[in-house]
Amino acid sequence: MTPLDLFAPESDDAALMAQLRQTLHDHAHRYYVLDTPTLPDAEYDRLFRQLQALEARHPELITQDSPTQRVGGKPLDQFAQVRHAVPMLSIRTETDTQASGAELFDARVRRELGLSPTDPAIGYVAEPKFDGLAMNLRYEQRVLVQAATRGDGEVGEDVTQNIRTIGQIPLRLPLDAPAVLEVRGEVYMRRDDFEALNDKQRLAGQKTFVNPRNAAAGAVRQLDPAIAAQRPLSFYVYGLGAVTPPDAGGPVWQTHFEMMQTLKSWGFPVSEMVKCAQGAPELVAYYAAIGRQRDGLGFDIDGVVYKVNSLALQRQLGFVTREPRWAVAHKFPAQEMLTTVLGIDVQVGRTGKLTPVAKLAPVFVGGVTVTNATLHNEDEARRKDVRVGDTVIVRRAGDVIPEVVSVLLDKRVDESVQFTMPRQCPVCGSAAVREEGEADYRCTGGLFCSAQRKQALLHFAQRRAVEVEGLGDKLVDQLVDAGIINTLPDLYRLGFTALANLARMADKSAQNILDALEKSKQTTLPRFLFGLGIRHVGEATAKALARHFGKLDAIMDAPEDVLLAVADVGPIVANSIRTFFDQAHNREVVEQLRACGVTWPEGEPAPVAAQPLSGQTFVLTGTLPTLGREEAKALIEAAGGKVAGSVSKKTSFVVAGAEAGSKLDKARELGVAVLDEDQLKEMLDGGA
Ligand code: IVH
Repeated sequence: MTPLDLFAPESDDAALMAQLRQTLHDHAHRYYVLDTPTLPDAEYDRLFRQLQALEARHPELITQDSPTQRVGGKPLDQFAQVRHAVPMLSIRTETDTQASGAELFDARVRRELGLSPTDPAIGYVAEPKFDGLAMNLRYEQRVLVQAATRGDGEVGEDVTQNIRTIGQIPLRLPLDAPAVLEVRGEVYMRRDDFEALNDKQRLAGQKTFVNPRNAAAGAVRQLDPAIAAQRPLSFYVYGLGAVTPPDAGGPVWQTHFEMMQTLKSWGFPVSEMVKCAQGAPELVAYYAAIGRQRDGLGFDIDGVVYKVNSLALQRQLGFVTREPRWAVAHKFPAQEMLTTVLGIDVQVGRTGKLTPVAKLAPVFVGGVTVTNATLHNEDEARRKDVRVGDTVIVRRAGDVIPEVVSVLLDKRVDESVQFTMPRQCPVCGSAAVREEGEADYRCTGGLFCSAQRKQALLHFAQRRAVEVEGLGDKLVDQLVDAGIINTLPDLYRLGFTALANLARMADKSAQNILDALEKSKQTTLPRFLFGLGIRHVGEATAKALARHFGKLDAIMDAPEDVLLAVADVGPIVANSIRTFFDQAHNREVVEQLRACGVTWPEGEPAPVAAQPLSGQTFVLTGTLPTLGREEAKALIEAAGGKVAGSVSKKTSFVVAGAEAGSKLDKARELGVAVLDEDQLKEMLDGGA
C-alpha cells in the first residue's frame, strides 16, 4: 500500500464500487441475455447489497449506470417529450395474393435494383416481427441515457425510468462501442410473465390485461417506476437509430446481420430466430417455419420481417415517404378478432362433462372461420361474464380451440342476462352435478345419455384409437338417433341394409364403412385401451399400460397398487382404471368387442427395470436446437421419464433451449439441474 492510499480510503471505495458494478453488469448479462449464469443468485445479491451499502456511504459516487439504479426515481406526472435524432419509421406490410408476400417483396426489390431474372439471388435477413412496442435506446459514452417510445415517429416519450428496470437491457456498453449509439428494438412481455401478472392482478382485485402487448404497453407507460419494475418486460434489438459516423470513429458494417452480431457482442439480446436467407425461396421457407413455431414460442409475434442484408443495397434502395424500400413485414393471420355472441349452448362430452360454448357470428381468425368458442366451465363463463349479444374478442392460436378472451363491456346491451349452467343435461334431462372440488358439471346419465354414447363412439373410431375411417359425427348422429347403435359392439353388428337405408347414404359409402369396420378389427392394445375412453387414460397412458402389462386381461384385473407401478400412472388414474373395469357392463363391452373379432397382438409384460430415465421428471422450456417439443417429450417418455408443465421441487431436470423464460428462472431459484439438448440426448442414450 502506498502512503497516499492511507489518506484516501475514499478512492479505495471508489475502485471497489467500480469493480462491483463491473462484476454485477457481467453477471446480469450472462443471466438475462446469454442464459448461462456463473454466479449463484445468493452471491449476486450479496455483491449487490455491498454496492448499495457503499453507495449509501458515498452518494456522490453513484453512477447512472450502476445496477442499483435500475429501479428508482419518483412517480412522474407525465412523460417528457423526446424528439428522435433519426425518425422512427414504420414498415410496409406485404399481403399474400396469389403469390406469397415473400415473393412479392423479392420481386419488388429486384425490379427496383434493375436486376434481371438471371442475376443472382439477393441476400436477406429474416426476423420475427415481435408483438410489443418499439423503443429507442440512446447510449452516450457507453452509458444508457435515454429510452423513448416511438410516438408519432418524430416525437416520442421519455420512459427511461421504466426501461432501466428491464434486466436484459444493458445500462452500459463495452469500450469498443461508439460514443453515440442508438439501438432500436421491441419491448414485449413473455406469455408466462403475462399469465403470472394477470394472476397477480386478479388476486389483488385489479384489472387484468387483454394480451401481452397491452400489458407491456401499460408497463412502459406506467408513471410510477416502482410499479413498472414489478411488470416483467423483455427486449429484442432489431436495428439502429443515430450512431457516431465512421469518419468520427464510429463502426463500419457491411451487412445488417453483421451489425446485429456486433450488437449482440455489446450485450443486447438478439433473437436466435434472426436468420440469413438467400432469395425468395428461403424467405418463403422461413415464413412457414416460424409460422409452425409460433404457438410454441414463449412470446407473441404477429409475423416476420424481411430486410435486405447488404447495407450498401439498403442505401441504394432508400425510402418511399415514411417506409424503407429494403424491408417489409409479412404478417401471420390475426389470432384475435372482434365478433358478437349469438347464443350460449351447453355441449355434453364423452364423460358427461357439460361445456358452455359461445355461438359466434362467423369471423375469420387465425386463418379459419370461427363460429364457436369454448367457455370451458361455469366458473370461466362467469369470470369472463360472457352474455348473449355481447361484443367479444375471440382468439385462436394454432390448433387450440377458439376462446373468448374478453368482453367489450361498453358495447353491452342493457337487457343482457348472466349465464347460468343448467342443472339438467340438455340432451337427456338427467341431473347435472358438480362434484366437490371439480370445475365441471357432469351429466349423470352415463350411456343412457345419447350425447355421451355418440361421443364414446366417435372417440373409439378416431384415427388415434381403433380408427374406423368414414365414421364421423354426422353418421354417428344418424345411427344413434335412429336407435341402430347403442354400444360400441353394435358397430360391428351393422349390416349393409341398415346402413344403406340411412338418409344420404349411397351403397358405395355403406360398403366403404363396412370395409373400414372390418379393417379396424386388427388393432393394437394401446389403441384399443385408449379407444375405450377410460377417464384419464390418454394415448400415453394407454401405451405405458400396454407396455407394462402386455395383455389386456392383466390390466383389467390389476389392483390399484399394481397399476401404480406403471410409469405414467398416479393414484387418480389408477383409481379410474380400476373403477372402469369393476363395472360389469364395461367388461361386457370388452368381451363383446372381442367376440365380434376385434383383436390385437398381445405381448409379454415388460421387465419393470431400468429404463434410463425412470423415476425422473423433466420440464421443457424454450426452443431446442433440433428436437421439437413433442418429439423431446416422446423421447423422454419412451425412456421411462415423465414430462411436467411446471417446475417444482419434484422436478429432476429442466431442459432449456433458446428463449427459455421463467421456468428457467424457477429452476435456478429451486436449484433444479438444467440441461441443454445435448445433455438430454446423452441421458436418453443411458449416458448419465
Ligand atoms: S424493423 C425501418 N424489425 O414492427 C425498419 N421492426 O416497423 C424499422 N417490429 O412498430 C422496423 N419486430 O417495432 C423491425 N424484427 C423487427 C421487428 C419490428 C417488430 C415492429 C416495430 C414497428 C413495427 C413496424
